[in-house]
Amino acid sequence: MLLAASTQRTIGLVILAIVFIGGLVYIYFNIRSARDEIGSEIELASNRKPYLSDEELEGKKLDFALGTSLVLLTITAVTLPLYWLGEPGRHEGRDVDTWRIFTNRGEEIYVEGAQCVSCHGSEGSGGAVSTAITSASGEFIAQVSWKAPALDTLLSRYTEDEVLHTLNYGRNGVMPAWGGGGGGPLTDQQLEEILFYIRDIQISEEEIREQVAGGVEDGAKELIMATSTEPWAVDLRAAKAAADEAAWAVTLIARDEFGFDCAAVEGVPECDAADAARDALRASTDAAAGPLQAAFEAWWADVQAAQQTARDMALEADGSLAEEGNEEQWRFAALEILSTPDAFEGQAAYLQYGEILFANEAAAGTYSCARCHTYGWSFDATGPYMLETNGTDEAILDEYVQGGGFFGPNLRGGSTLDQFETAGGHASFIERGQAIGAAYGRGGSGGNGQMPGFGPLTESNPQGPGMGPGSGVEFRYPALLTADQIDAIVAFERTL
Ligand code: HEC
Ligand code: HEC
Repeated sequence: MLLAASTQRTIGLVILAIVFIGGLVYIYFNIRSARDEIGSEIELASNRKPYLSDEELEGKKLDFALGTSLVLLTITAVTLPLYWLGEPGRHEGRDVDTWRIFTNRGEEIYVEGAQCVSCHGSEGSGGAVSTAITSASGEFIAQVSWKAPALDTLLSRYTEDEVLHTLNYGRNGVMPAWGGGGGGPLTDQQLEEILFYIRDIQISEEEIREQVAGGVEDGAKELIMATSTEPWAVDLRAAKAAADEAAWAVTLIARDEFGFDCAAVEGVPECDAADAARDALRASTDAAAGPLQAAFEAWWADVQAAQQTARDMALEADGSLAEEGNEEQWRFAALEILSTPDAFEGQAAYLQYGEILFANEAAAGTYSCARCHTYGWSFDATGPYMLETNGTDEAILDEYVQGGGFFGPNLRGGSTLDQFETAGGHASFIERGQAIGAAYGRGGSGGNGQMPGFGPLTESNPQGPGMGPGSGVEFRYPALLTADQIDAIVAFERTL
């Protein structure tokens, strides 16, 4: 585009220069070669009315006619290239206008028309929706808060066609169907406008890395807090349990008294107890902050050490891996070792890293696998709920069966080993995701492309005016997960 515009501009400038210099040269030579007037030679025939004399004709009148033509010619000669010079700008302007108009309309649908914003958050940063879940026989189980993934990284994981599939048909009853295909209210053009808006809000690779790393740190600290036997951790767990219990007592009062709010009343013992427990928890949390950070850093060092051990072991088995051009072979050979249960001492931290990535809470679970492959994870089913059917405060699940299958298939019990013979093939699948209708692995046959790709994505068939097949328009979106992160998840899955 830019290159085309600049060559056209250069050609225009050259033509303009030629016209201008040519004009000057012409005028110069014309004046130089003009001869002086030598008088009239024509005798007037007797039957002809004398017209204006040569002197008169070649005087003012001729000068006027020639002068006017010259001016007009100059105007034409100068304005044509000038107009041409402006043409690319006008083209660009029109494209920018279309872009702006579609993006604005898309934003309006996102914010007001369809209110995607109420579930997916402002600028697609992720959110949640309050929804009822029911048993298989249709009985009400609980009102839950269901994670709605961030859309500001959507085009890194799905092609636009795959996005349109979800927009058309919705998902799992919690994401409504929007397009005509699924009986929704929006037209194809409106879906296209939403895509313009979604393109506009995609975040940068650095932001993605930061979000994923933040989720890993939170998840690792959560794990350390839950399992460490250090006194500060034991203390913290006790304080947390006490605070949860006290808060739950308040929740129970609120269930019976509509609109009950501790801040608006005084002298309620449950409220005072909840306040005190919260203060105690804050104190324990502050005291634990230092040791927790240190424990996290030690864990992270263990993860990296495990990765290095696997690489060393792979190299020991095959020295040629260190040669130039064998980087991927080395990566996959190390991954094969990391994916083998009890391969070496210190592997555990690495598999924990994989599990934390698998269930990464960052950005409403967007980077996780658990939101599709683990039942209940999207609505925090292990948290306390008031279950309508039996009126207790039990959790819906005691614990998650990580990778046990939900919207995506069960990944446990060696099923991924059956599907993907090698860890490398498995990792490549996670990088690419599932394309619409395409087969994968040994027996995987493609559905609607709903398994996202976690590597980088190039969209070479974007929807919209001036785009589409053959337009040459291409977008590149950064990977959601790095190769290292994908490897850790693959190792975790293959040992499930
Ligand atoms: C009532 C809440 C709600 C509204 C409104 C809503 N969504 Fe969703 N959407 C969800 C939930 C919840 C999910 C995740 C479903 C799941 O976990 O299976 C989802 C999933 C998606 C996905 C799949 C993303 C992924 O990575 O899996 C896309 C794309 C999407 N929504 C786009 C939109 C757009 C665009 C709009 C507005 C036209 C919209 N949604 C409106 C709740 C909503
Ligand atoms: C938005 C939902 C979703 C997310 C998020 C998701 N998956 Fe999937 N996954 C699917 C679906 C759907 C399939 C089935 C694909 C098909 O057959 O078309 C699938 C298939 C798979 C398979 C093949 C299983 C088999 O036996 O055929 C593997 C392995 C897998 N996913 C791993 C992952 C990993 C690892 C992650 C996280 C990095 C992940 N998935 C995130 C929906 C998801």
